[in-house]
Amino acid sequence: MKTVHILTYGCQMNVYDSARMADALKPFGFSVVDAAADADLVVLNTCHIRDKAAEKVYSELGRLAEAKAERAIRGRPLLIAVAGCVAQAEGEEIRARAPSVDIVIGPQAYHRLPGLVAEAERAGGFGLDIDFPVESKFDHLPAVDAASATIDGTSAFLTVQEGCDKFCSFCVVPYTRGAETSRPVTQVLAEARVLALAGVREITLLGQNVNNYHGAAPSGPGDWSLGRLIATLAEIDGIDRIRYTTSYPADVDDDLIAAHRDVPKLMPYLHLPVQSGSDSILAAMGRRHDRAAYFRLVDRLKAARPDLALASDFIVGFPGETEGDFAATVDLVERIGFAQAYSFKYSPRPGTPAASLGGQISETEKSERLARLQVAVDHHRLLFNQATAGRTMPVLFERHGRRAGQLIGRSPYMQPVHVDASDRHIGRILPVAVVAGYANSLEGRIAMSSEAVPVPA
Ligand code: SAH
Ligand code: F3S
Repeated sequence: MKTVHILTYGCQMNVYDSARMADALKPFGFSVVDAAADADLVVLNTCHIRDKAAEKVYSELGRLAEAKAERAIRGRPLLIAVAGCVAQAEGEEIRARAPSVDIVIGPQAYHRLPGLVAEAERAGGFGLDIDFPVESKFDHLPAVDAASATIDGTSAFLTVQEGCDKFCSFCVVPYTRGAETSRPVTQVLAEARVLALAGVREITLLGQNVNNYHGAAPSGPGDWSLGRLIATLAEIDGIDRIRYTTSYPADVDDDLIAAHRDVPKLMPYLHLPVQSGSDSILAAMGRRHDRAAYFRLVDRLKAARPDLALASDFIVGFPGETEGDFAATVDLVERIGFAQAYSFKYSPRPGTPAASLGGQISETEKSERLARLQVAVDHHRLLFNQATAGRTMPVLFERHGRRAGQLIGRSPYMQPVHVDASDRHIGRILPVAVVAGYANSLEGRIAMSSEAVPVPA
C-alpha cells in the first residue's frame, strides 16, 4: 500500500478537490495519511487568491525539499505534487523555484494525477499538466461512491459549477479555474444520493459563481437553474439542509429567490460578496452591481425569506479607494448588518488589470482600514449572535467540542452552537434553546420538542 498526504489551502472547493484527488488515487493503491512524514506522495492543493496564500506554498515546498533529500538517503523516495491555483498560475515558476517538485497539476486536470504519479515513480522526472481541457473534468473524475469515497462527517461539499467568466479586475480566479462550466444535473443528483446514503445530512453546493449554474437537464434539451436544482435536491431523503456558495449578486435570478421562499431545506443564510460599498470602486472592480442594486437584491431576498441572514466579502484599499469610498463600505455594513463577513486587504495579483492601476494604497493605510472595517463587522456579528439568544432552533450536531461531554453543531444561520450533549447526537438535527450569543458562537441546551419553533431543519 502506498500513502498520500494532501495539504489543502484556500477555499472550500479546494477541500472538495482534495477529497476527489484522494478518491482518484485510491484505485492505484494510495491510502490517505495525516502526516507528510508517513507519505510516499505529498500533494499541496494550493491557493493563489492573495499574495500571502501563494507565498505559503513556497515556504512549505522548502521544508518538503529537505524532507525529500533526507528520505532519498534512507532509500524511501518522496514524491511532491503541487496542485490547485498556484500550480495553474505559476507552473513554470514552481519548476524554477522549487526543483524538488515532481508534478505540477492544474485544477482541471486532477483525473490525470494517477498517470502523472506513475510516470514520476518510473522516471523520477517532472510532470506538468496545467492545460484547460476542452471537455469538463466532471466527465473524467470517477463518480463519488459511498463505499470508497472520502466522505467525512454529516455536512459535505458538492461542486456543481467551476470557473468564472466575470473577470473582476482584482481577481485571479478566471485565470486559474478557467471558464464557467456546470455539472450535468444527473451527476449532481447521483452524488447527492450517495452522500445521503453515507449519512450526510447537509450539502453545500459549491461553485466560484454557483448561482450562475446552468447544468444540462437530466433528459431533453436545455439546462436547469440553481433554484430548480435546489428544489429537486430537497426531494432526496436524508438530505435535510442545503446551502450554496459563492454567489455573484448580479446573477441571482427569480428561480433562486423563489427557492428561498419555497424550499424549507434551503437554509436561511446566504454568502453574497459585495466587495465594496462605493459605486466608483465597484465600477473600477468591474462588478456588475452598484450599491443600490445590492440593497434592492437584499430586499427581494428578504421579502422571500424574512429571516435570511447575510454574509459577505470585502476588499479594502482597492487602488484609488478614498476615505469617502471606504466610509461608504462601512456604511453598507452598518445598514445591512451582516451575520458574518470576511474582509481582506487588496492584494495586487500579477496579470490582473487592477494590479497596474494608479492610486495603489499603502500597506499601512490598508491595515488601518481593515482594522476599522473589522470593528464594524465584529460588532454586527455579535449583535446577530446575541439576537438569537432566547430562540429555539434546529441544530445539526457535527462534532465533539473541546470539553468532554460537549458537542458542536450549526444553526440554520451557520453559527457554531455549543451544547452539552451525548455523542449519539452527532449527525442528528435537534431543537436547541439558545442561552447566549457570543462573538463567534452560541451556547445552548437541547430543548424539549414542545419548545421547538417551526423553523425548518
Ligand atoms: N466567487 C469567488 C470569490 C473569489 S475569492 C469564490 O468564493 O469562489 C474570495 C474572496 O477573496 C473574494 O470575494 C474577495 O473578497 C477576495 N479577493 C479576491 N481577490 C482578491 C485580491 N486580489 N485581494 C484581496 N482580496 C481578494
Ligand atoms: Fe473572482 Fe469576480 Fe469571479 S471575485 S471569482 S472574478 S465573480
